[in-house]
Amino acid sequence: MTSVLVTGCDSGLGREFAQQYADAGWTVWATYRDIANALADDRMQHAALDVTAFGDFEALRQRIGGAPLDLLVSNAGIGLDSGHLGQLDFDYVHRMLAVNLVGALKLVETFVDNVAASGIRRIVLVTSRMGSIASNLTGGHYGYRASKAGLNAVGRSLALDLHRRGVAVTMIHPGWVNTAGGSPQAPLSARDSVSAMRATVARMGNHETGTYVSFDGQPLPW
Ligand SMILES: NC(=O)c1ccc[n+]([C@@H]2O[C@H](COP(=O)([O-])OP(=O)(O)OC[C@H]3O[C@@H](n4cnc5c(N)ncnc54)[C@H](OP(=O)(O)O)[C@@H]3O)[C@@H](O)[C@H]2O)c1
Repeated sequence: MTSVLVTGCDSGLGREFAQQYADAGWTVWATYRDIANALADDRMQHAALDVTAFGDFEALRQRIGGAPLDLLVSNAGIGLDSGHLGQLDFDYVHRMLAVNLVGALKLVETFVDNVAASGIRRIVLVTSRMGSIASNLTGGHYGYRASKAGLNAVGRSLALDLHRRGVAVTMIHPGWVNTAGGSPQAPLSARDSVSAMRATVARMGNHETGTYVSFDGQPLPW
């Protein structure tokens, strides 16, 4: 059976990814920063995974063992503004880098063998258009932009390094979505964003790796 592990299922897009893949009949490993937020859905495996707590990765690695993971979705992320130059909240900048960038890299390092042992062999890094250096025309958002630009750099290296193992990596922007991390004014629902991302990823062949795309598959400038 096809399997997926998703981080940050406490809310928003992560929760929606877990539900949509479970509805499609996949084996779902839904992971939560706080396991108290676990979905009441016994079709899924639920696990605590704070992506900044490396002990959590080890505990989950032992639980999953050598089972194949067809798809790894690094979704967990934080993105409030870290303030203006001169008044930056550096603790929050560090936290964004720890969650959005280092946490995603640790996730891949921990489970890459499980992905390589699967049939589909894909890693999806949920990034943001805010990580595009070329299309940054408004400035600000130092921590968030750096964390997602860094995630894109990490994803590109992973794509090159894992190509020989047949593992493909996609950096995907979910659109501007009506979640806690987005805004109530955002035009896209979590449901539509995730179903578009799933369709985009499903269309990709394993030769398509190291790409940075929007939820609908449109390429984004680095
Ligand atoms: N919504 C948008 O418009 C938009 C646009 C571009 C990119 N994104 C990206 O999409 C992803 C999902 O965001 P969202 O919109 O669904 O916002 P969200 O509802 O705030 O979801 C983010 C999830 O990440 C979890 N999380 C935070 N810190 C974590 C940690 N240390 N370990 C594990 N999980 C952690 C959060 O859990 P808690 O709530 O319990 O802290 C939450 O479940 C993020 O990577 C975000 O940067 C979103």
